[in-house]
Amino acid sequence: MVVAKSWIMVQHFEGVPKPEDFKLIERELPPLKDGEVLLESDFLSVDPYMRPYSKTLLKDGDIMIGSQVARVIESKNPAFPVGGDYVGYAGWTTHFISDGKGLNALPSNWPDHVPKSLALGAVGMPGLTAYFGLLEICKPKEGDIVMVNSAAGAVGSLVGQIAKIKGCKVVGSAGTDDKLTFLKEIGFDEVFNYKTVSSLAEVLKKASPEGYDCFFDNVGGKFADAVLQQMKDFGRVAVCGAISIYNDSVPSTGPYIQPYILFKQLRMEGFLPARWDNQKAEGEKQLLEWVAEGKLKYHEHITNGFVNMPAGFMGMLRGENTGKAIIRI
Ligand SMILES: NC(=O)c1ccc[n+]([C@@H]2O[C@H](COP(=O)([O-])OP(=O)(O)OC[C@H]3O[C@@H](n4cnc5c(N)ncnc54)[C@H](OP(=O)(O)O)[C@@H]3O)[C@@H](O)[C@H]2O)c1
Repeated sequence: MVVAKSWIMVQHFEGVPKPEDFKLIERELPPLKDGEVLLESDFLSVDPYMRPYSKTLLKDGDIMIGSQVARVIESKNPAFPVGGDYVGYAGWTTHFISDGKGLNALPSNWPDHVPKSLALGAVGMPGLTAYFGLLEICKPKEGDIVMVNSAAGAVGSLVGQIAKIKGCKVVGSAGTDDKLTFLKEIGFDEVFNYKTVSSLAEVLKKASPEGYDCFFDNVGGKFADAVLQQMKDFGRVAVCGAISIYNDSVPSTGPYIQPYILFKQLRMEGFLPARWDNQKAEGEKQLLEWVAEGKLKYHEHITNGFVNMPAGFMGMLRGENTGKAIIRI
C-alpha cells in the first residue's frame, strides 16, 4: 500500500499566499485496477498561474493544482511500462494513480545529459509559452527591438534568448542585480532593475531611444502601461502574464491604454500555449535541440524536499528564483 503526501489549499488566498493557507495531508492509495498505473513524482513545478487559477479551479481543501515529472513505479497498463517518465497534471502530490489519460511522455530523443526537470521548464510549458508567444504573437523580424519583463524567470529568460537567435536586440528587466548579471550572461543587450530605477519611462527610453517593436509582457499593471507608451508604430504586444496584479484583492485601475493602441496602431493579444497544441511536438523538438546544442541556456531554481513546496511557491512569487522554479522530491 502506497501513502501519497499532498498539499491542499486550506482556504482561498487573500492577497499574498501565506504558510497557513497550505496543509500537508497523507492518503493511502488503493490497489491498481486493470489499465491503471502508479506514479511517483520526481520534480514538481511551481508557477505563477497557480495563484489566479486557484480562484476559479479550486475549492477550499482541494489539492493544489500543478504538474510534475513522474516515474511509473507499478503498472497494469502495457502502454505505460514501469520506469517510464511522464509529465502529469496531478497537482502537488508525491504519488498518484492514472489511467494514462493526460500523461505526456517526454520527447523520445531526450539526451542523457539534459535534466528531465526541463520537461517542466525550458522544454515544457514555459518553453512552449516563450516559443509560440514570441514567434506567433510578436512575430519578431531581424533587427527588431524586443522588450521583456520578468526577464530572468522561466519564460522571460527563454523569450530573450529566442529573440537573440532571431537576430533581435533584446532589453530585459528583473528585480535584483544578480538577475541582471545572469541576463547579460545569456545574451541580453540592455538590462535594468525595475525595483531600483527612479523612472521606468526614462530607463526604457535610454535602453532604446527609438522605441520597441515587440513587447513580451509577463508583468502587466503599471509596468505594461510604461512600455506601451514607448512602442513604435505597428508594434506587437504579447500579453503573457500579469504577475504584478495576481495578488490584488481589489482590482487596480490604471491609465486607459486605448489611446496608445490606437495612435500607434499596436496589435496586443493575450495567449495560452495550448492554442498551438497541434504544433507542440515541433516546438518541443526545436527547444530540445537548442538546449542540447547550448544555444538556449537554462537555469533552474531548485527547492529540495516536498515539505518545502509552499515555501518554493511563495518564494517564486516574491522573486527568489532565477530561471525555472522547481521542487525536487
Ligand atoms: N500565457 C500563458 O499561458 C503563460 C504561461 C506561463 C507563464 N505565464 C505568465 O508569465 C509570467 C512569468 O511566468 P514564469 O513561469 O516565467 O515565472 P517566473 O518569471 O519564473 O517567476 C515569477 C517572477 O515574477 C517576478 N515578479 C513577481 N512579482 C512581480 C511584480 N510585482 N512586478 C514585476 N515582476 C514581478 C519575480 O521576478 P523579479 O525578481 O524580476 O521581480 C519572479 O521571479 C507570469 O505572469 C505567468 O503568469 C503565462
